[in-house]
Amino acid sequence: MTTLGALDSVRVLTSVVVPTLAAGVIRRRPRLMWLTERWGLDRRAIATLTRLRERHGGAPVAVRVPGRSLVLPLSEVDAGRVLAGTPDPFTPATTEKRAALRHFQPHGVLISTGRDRDRRRAFTEAALEPERELHSQAGRIAAVVREEIGTLPAEIDWDSFARVWWRAVRRIVLGDQARDDDELTDLLGRLRAAGNWAYLHPLRRRDRARFDAALAEHLRSPSDRLATAHGDGVDPAGQAPHWLFAFDAAGMVTVRTLALLARHPRHLDTARAEGQHYTRACVLDTIRLWPTTPALLRESVRDTGWGPPGTTTFLHTPLFHRDPVALPWADRFAPETWLDGTAAAHPALVPFSAGAGQCPGRNVVLHATSTAIATVLDGHDITLLGDHGLHPPQPLPATLDNTSVRLRRTFRHPVAW
Ligand code: HEM
Repeated sequence: MTTLGALDSVRVLTSVVVPTLAAGVIRRRPRLMWLTERWGLDRRAIATLTRLRERHGGAPVAVRVPGRSLVLPLSEVDAGRVLAGTPDPFTPATTEKRAALRHFQPHGVLISTGRDRDRRRAFTEAALEPERELHSQAGRIAAVVREEIGTLPAEIDWDSFARVWWRAVRRIVLGDQARDDDELTDLLGRLRAAGNWAYLHPLRRRDRARFDAALAEHLRSPSDRLATAHGDGVDPAGQAPHWLFAFDAAGMVTVRTLALLARHPRHLDTARAEGQHYTRACVLDTIRLWPTTPALLRESVRDTGWGPPGTTTFLHTPLFHRDPVALPWADRFAPETWLDGTAAAHPALVPFSAGAGQCPGRNVVLHATSTAIATVLDGHDITLLGDHGLHPPQPLPATLDNTSVRLRRTFRHPVAW
């Protein structure tokens, strides 16, 4: 491991750590996303870390931060070591995440440790069925997504998409009776926004109480929903907030994949011809290109050789996902790499993380998003309005601000999916 000098430490903090965290750990901040795209901040972060990697032969670098011990792994092998070492010695329950989630989900699996983590992870897996490509409720999930996405207008922007998407999400996670409960997700949005500020924001006790009451009410109603599992004394209300808020990322990814398909006619034709198997690969590659969790944070629970217990590890996924040396296709849309084993050969390509902390919602997400994309494309052509720097074969930009994407749908011949 190399400890960086003062100048390089400041460079890493200002060009990598602070911009990544400032864009919102718990809820992406639209204005900062827009600035990040406009100023090319993600590209600058990747360039800074690539230079350090070359200079230090791929060794992890320790950054000088007063009162904190912070390490950035820069090689695929070290990235794999951190993810395989979750939750011990690298716990996902870091100080920052605990401070952020205490605003609305103090019992979430992501910030749990020891036996609590084991029970809550087992409960989450029983509900989300991560190992099954198609969840046992896949038919219901697809029907809900088709019904709601089918109501989108001909011109889709982020606001119109999000309105419809949240209806589908509330039905999937909590049951049909939650469809129109915009207040529930608005409250969650406010609590997440407070969570972005971690300890710097006071708890919104009134919003939290209203959110908890509304959530409990939905969980009492006799509906089909994801949050049905019971086990080992784990309360679904302690886990379901994550399932709701994480679907926000799935919405962003749906819109970004549609934007890519609009500018990649060959891939669009393949998606139409091959159906959801290929569309899932399109979604995976979209998350590779623009990870919705660009920083995988871990905290060591004992000495790992990278500093004392309590050292924070900051795994910057864009560095690995856009590495032009390891991935000759880094800056282009390459869904086929998820189907032919190419992506699987790279342990640091982790759209849904990896190891024991891997996203348990991954297959539900791939099913819901690919169904949404198929529904938008069904009988329609799509055009991306605006520029966004998506001009293949030119390299794809390092950021795509989903809140400013606008798509237009026009009728085409009926197509069978
Ligand atoms: C595009 C959508 C999504 C992406 C890209 C994504 C990605 C991720 C990633 C990268 C992690 C690991 C975070 C870390 O290591 O610090 C994670 C954790 C998690 N995700 Fe997702 N996620 C998505 C949607 C969802 C959905 C919809 C659900 C639930 C229905 C979900 C449930 C979870 C849970 C419970 C964890 C914590 C796992 C643990 O700590 O054991 N995710 N997700």
